[in-house]
Amino acid sequence: MSSVRVPGKVNLALCVAPRRADGYHDLYTLFQAVSLHEEVTALARVDAEIRLQMTGEGSEELPCDRTNLAVRAARLLRERNCRPDLGVDLLVRKQVPMAGGMAGGSADAAGVLLACNQTWQLGLSRPELSGIAAELGSDVPFLLFGGNAVGTGRGERLRPMPAPGRLEWVFALAPRGLSTPLVYQRFDEMAERGTLVPNADLSLQSLDALCSGDAARVAPELRNDLQPAALELYPELATTLAAGLSAGALSAIVCGSGPTCAFLCADADQADRLAVEVASAPEVRGTRRAHGPVPGPEVL
Ligand code: C5P
Repeated sequence: MSSVRVPGKVNLALCVAPRRADGYHDLYTLFQAVSLHEEVTALARVDAEIRLQMTGEGSEELPCDRTNLAVRAARLLRERNCRPDLGVDLLVRKQVPMAGGMAGGSADAAGVLLACNQTWQLGLSRPELSGIAAELGSDVPFLLFGGNAVGTGRGERLRPMPAPGRLEWVFALAPRGLSTPLVYQRFDEMAERGTLVPNADLSLQSLDALCSGDAARVAPELRNDLQPAALELYPELATTLAAGLSAGALSAIVCGSGPTCAFLCADADQADRLAVEVASAPEVRGTRRAHGPVPGPEVL
């Protein structure tokens, strides 16, 4: 049996280039792993079944069949190792909001790769697992590493960055999810309309500030190019962002493709107060406190 804890993420910068011929978008993104975790336990079976059970955040709405990214991760791992005979019971305890832009599903997939690699005694290295992770989704490789990292390509090509300091975050959960492909599609429509001009450039000064771990330097540099598209699809998020700012957040931003909103706070006390205040804003299902950067997966 093997258990792994995998963090969720927030993008401190998510800079999006125009749509590529294959439908994806080249990114220049700075990922930060944060202290909301998914816990994945894998127990080898004597037969070739792959069974999944989920508990916690949003789990009642998630199908546990072959469409679930956790099951797809286990299937792909045994396929790549030519071991269709391997079976596993998977248990996922969720803290990261579902369909929220914080890579909860990707964290599950990363955890399954690590836990099954151990439980099935496959002996794959992290770089080998990272290749399989990239096939499962653009965010999955980062969750094998954690900390702060720049992602390019679809987001799957990673360069680790310094991870000093500790940023205090509040996350506001929305009552419904947003589909990542739909948000990217709306981004493309807005580019066609001329409402936005895709440009994935980020200056070295901005990157340096974002990696400083100093909230006052990070706050003005937070950037999410998908935010206008997420706001068009979910206009109520503007009220949530405003509620966090009026409660004293240094900066407010939509996480990834949304709809979770992230608030960067000056210190832990302010974040604790803000989490209570924003929880009563309209269109907020609840708030979560977290900090980042945190290390990548931890074997329990
Ligand atoms: O890679 P992943 O499966 O997580 O991506 C989900 C969807 O998000 C893709 O099908 C694509 O529509 C969009 N996407 C994109 N460009 C990226 C990452 C994701 O267009 N770099």
